[in-house]
Amino acid sequence: MVQKLLVLGIESSCDETGVALVRCEAATGSVQVPALLAHALYSQIEMHQAFGGVVPELASRDHIRRVLPLAQEVLIAADCQLSDVDVVAYTRGPGLAGALLVGAGVACALGAALGKPVLGVHHLEGHLLSPFLSADPPQFPFIALLVSGGHTQLMRVDGVGRYVLLGESIDDAAGEAFDKSAKLMGLAYPGGPLLARLAESGNPKAYALPRPLLHSGNLDFSFAGLKTAVMVQAKKMVAAGGVSLFEELPRAQQCDLAASTQAAIVDVLLRKSLTALKESGLTRLVVAGGVGANRHLREQLNAACAKRNIRVHYPELHLCTDNGAMIALAGAMRLQSGVQQASMAYAFDVKPRWPLDML
Ligand code: KG4
Ligand code: ZN
Repeated sequence: MVQKLLVLGIESSCDETGVALVRCEAATGSVQVPALLAHALYSQIEMHQAFGGVVPELASRDHIRRVLPLAQEVLIAADCQLSDVDVVAYTRGPGLAGALLVGAGVACALGAALGKPVLGVHHLEGHLLSPFLSADPPQFPFIALLVSGGHTQLMRVDGVGRYVLLGESIDDAAGEAFDKSAKLMGLAYPGGPLLARLAESGNPKAYALPRPLLHSGNLDFSFAGLKTAVMVQAKKMVAAGGVSLFEELPRAQQCDLAASTQAAIVDVLLRKSLTALKESGLTRLVVAGGVGANRHLREQLNAACAKRNIRVHYPELHLCTDNGAMIALAGAMRLQSGVQQASMAYAFDVKPRWPLDML
């Protein structure tokens, strides 16, 4: 019988505390996808909303409060004891240094107390592998479009830990473009999902907004200029409407600018993804990270890929944004594939900046 490992995963890189338990096969080279037994999440969004964005010090302090109760919650849900845990995986980076230190500190303290090894995981690798927990898991190799709050990257993925960066944003990430445009429209932090909701009733062709770097000849992105264009357009609308705030404009106009902004972001993500697929000759696309929850992005990608016989894989909607399940999963998959071993050295560090292709 194949020996099984119970991996506890801890995510604390930004404003969500996530803890999860997965069970995987201990055999190196096993292709069995680890099973998610339980996961629990606490989002700090409400606390940060009053400040219009994440306050790093408050984030760290809140992770401290949440992480152990969440660990107890998942152990109970999975009907496991703490002593059953074989490996403790945690997010080592990238992210907010203080927030990462909380998860790393708790993980290494648990490991030391239990006499079990620990494993530092790359947050973006967690996102990238998260579709393996979906009902329709991908197979290697594939192109990955990673669209989180802080990163926009296209990767060629040949296996666990085998990542080649094809292109990335040279300034703002797609998530930032959503959030910053939403802020200009008077929407609360993080505005991405709220802007997307407004956009549902708007006309995406109402305002001509730039598609930055669309014809750059490479797979890089740039979204900072788009945000400026949205700001200029919003100011024009406010002046023409004789109001003092964007949110005082007729709702139809607000929806139209939201829809036009979303269309510009999605258009660039779609076209660059298709170019990456064409150039690589690969026929699978994996979309991961918070912006991967965007309905318009999913519709556009699904339609374009269906025409080209390309399979698209997404994480389950509730695992698109930050969570502990993806960290436990990535830790388990790294162990199974043999690219990393868990360590009994509990002197930890974190990597607030950490390129995924440097793993
Ligand atoms: O991956 P994630 O949870 O955090 C990071 O690792 O950064 O991504 C968060 C980002 C935020 O920018 C948020 O506004 C965006 O994902 N987001 C969305 C949607 N849901 C989350 N953007 C557009 N449409 C959505 N439905
Ligand atoms: Zn993330």
